[in-house]
Amino acid sequence: MDQADLPFERFESLLAAHPHVEHVELQGEGESLLHPRFFDMVRALRTKNIKVSIITNGSLISESHAAQLVALGIEKVSVSMESAESETFRQIRGGKLEKVIAGLSALVAEKNKQKSLRPIVGLSITVLRDTQDHLPGIIALYKKLGLDGGVTFQPLSTMPLYEKNYPAGLRQQVLSDHEVDDLWVRVRMHKELRQIQKRKDKLRVDSFYDELLAGFQPGTRRCPWLEQGLYVNHNGIATACCMIKDTERFRLGVIGEDTPQQILDRRKALVTELANGVLPAPCTGCELGRFALMNRWQLFAFAMGGVLRRYSPRAIWRRLRPQKPKVRLPLLPPSAS
Ligand SMILES: C[S@@+](CC[C@H](N)C(=O)[O-])C[C@H]1O[C@@H](n2cnc3c(N)ncnc32)[C@H](O)[C@@H]1O
Ligand code: SF4
Repeated sequence: MDQADLPFERFESLLAAHPHVEHVELQGEGESLLHPRFFDMVRALRTKNIKVSIITNGSLISESHAAQLVALGIEKVSVSMESAESETFRQIRGGKLEKVIAGLSALVAEKNKQKSLRPIVGLSITVLRDTQDHLPGIIALYKKLGLDGGVTFQPLSTMPLYEKNYPAGLRQQVLSDHEVDDLWVRVRMHKELRQIQKRKDKLRVDSFYDELLAGFQPGTRRCPWLEQGLYVNHNGIATACCMIKDTERFRLGVIGEDTPQQILDRRKALVTELANGVLPAPCTGCELGRFALMNRWQLFAFAMGGVLRRYSPRAIWRRLRPQKPKVRLPLLPPSAS
């Protein structure tokens, strides 16, 4: 995928073209905090009273960055990780977990110093086949650092443009359909995660994705991201959401070339397609789209299958005698680590 910084002028024209934007998530294929004008963008948005959230790899949260992130009053900083074990983290991400922990600690310390509730600070977990059992370590780290923004999950994507670019090692890390279903059931039923979520909800600070997902109901043939969101990449190309990366085939338009109405009309056509029970082509492989289109029996089979597998003798035996997960990493070519 083509990567570059979003030019600041394009960012400004985007804001001018869509004055009713309420919340902006500054993220993309790269790392937001590497953008040379990242804080100018945040400042421009906050001046207009637009809410801001970010997902970051967390490796660049220096004390000065932490101070600005808190002072600018952004809603949420979510830090990505797949494992809270240094070696697994390094094998997957090619960076140092200790650096990310230092960044998270700096952010929590700065919030305390400025006596600020914002940003709430959480973790975004992409689940790989070999890290499915890493949840306890992640929860322990979340608690140890005193985080408050919750823990969100997504399985390693199987959307075509993602999978096409996976190196062989990463392709083996894609979860099976049952593993994906089990992940959702496990997350939903996990006592500690439920407590974490409850405490987060009490803070009444919603991230970009909290707001987008609010009210999502499986089986309703509706996707709130499609109805309310828009993803714009560095070239100004708009797609329905951040997971739709095939901008050649699935663009809704280009900011500055197409009118905001043309872009929104094309998005509306996808909303209608989904409402008619057809998964729009750009959404192939999306979990939200899958749940949106499930009928009552499929939802029942999903829930029962997950519960039955969770309480099968084999699963109970595994939980009683936890084994260290077999890690078939590294995933990255040697030069990247
Ligand atoms: C666009 S990325 C943000 C990139 C940012 N540099 C980071 O590491 O958080 C948004 C989220 O998607 C996750 N992600 C990246 N590639 C993915 C994939 N192939 N499947 C599922 N999630 C993925 C990232 O870990 C991150 O939590
Ligand atoms: S169905 Fe999935 S891919 Fe399509 S807009 Fe919704 S979240 Fe994005």
